[in-house]
Amino acid sequence: MIGCFDSGLGGLTVLARLRQRLPAVDALFFADQAHVPYGDRPHAELLELLRKNLAWLNAQAVDAIVMACNTSCAIAERYGWPPSRAPIIDLIQSAAVAVEMAGSKRVGVIATAATVGAGSYGRTLRAQIPGIDVVEVAAPALVPLVEAGRIEGRDARAAVAEVCAHLPLDLESLVYGCTHYPVLEPHFAAVLGAGVALIDPAVVQAERAAEMLGDAPAGTGRTTFVTSGDERAFRSSVDRMLSALSVTAAP
Ligand code: DGL
Repeated sequence: MIGCFDSGLGGLTVLARLRQRLPAVDALFFADQAHVPYGDRPHAELLELLRKNLAWLNAQAVDAIVMACNTSCAIAERYGWPPSRAPIIDLIQSAAVAVEMAGSKRVGVIATAATVGAGSYGRTLRAQIPGIDVVEVAAPALVPLVEAGRIEGRDARAAVAEVCAHLPLDLESLVYGCTHYPVLEPHFAAVLGAGVALIDPAVVQAERAAEMLGDAPAGTGRTTFVTSGDERAFRSSVDRMLSALSVTAAP
């Protein structure tokens, strides 16, 4: 069984890619909605939440942890990974692979304030891709919109336009450095136009999970969903978001 966690619904964008790539695998998805948004919290608190989430997933006997929260990966890149028996697939490393595959040298990364403050994306991309030019922009307004299901309409478009106004005009690629953002893709595409490639690290993340587990791991394709927040609201949000992402929720 694969374990995944995020602060909330954003991690479902990773789960959706995993489900497409590994339909038979069993998964346990934890949303720490009691603490969402992570991105506005101090680093020390985020490190403690990461330690707890990894310990909890390990206690559920997961075989691997497929990270679905960039903010937690950024904290781990900066301060070191807390102990985990299960191997961890890091989203920022997957993002670096995706950017390298895209061949882009002028790259924007949008992420939470905590991720941008940690500087982890810039450090990782510069270390792995010679000559790359990286601009990191915090987008704290977007996670609350996605958690509230307000992903269509004017507010979402205006919030995306506001973030994009801080990006350089000559970008080749934009990386979603937060798993909540890919559901806003139609807005990013409309605001930035076809000249900017939109990179979701979850695609490579799912590919790396398949490499680690083998292409057809045993399982029934079941996903168990757990939240530290309101269970009923979570369940209906999961159904809504997974159907928007074209994935059928597990029984
Ligand atoms: N979706 C998470 C990420 O990828 C966390 C967003 C938040 O809670 O601020 O960073």
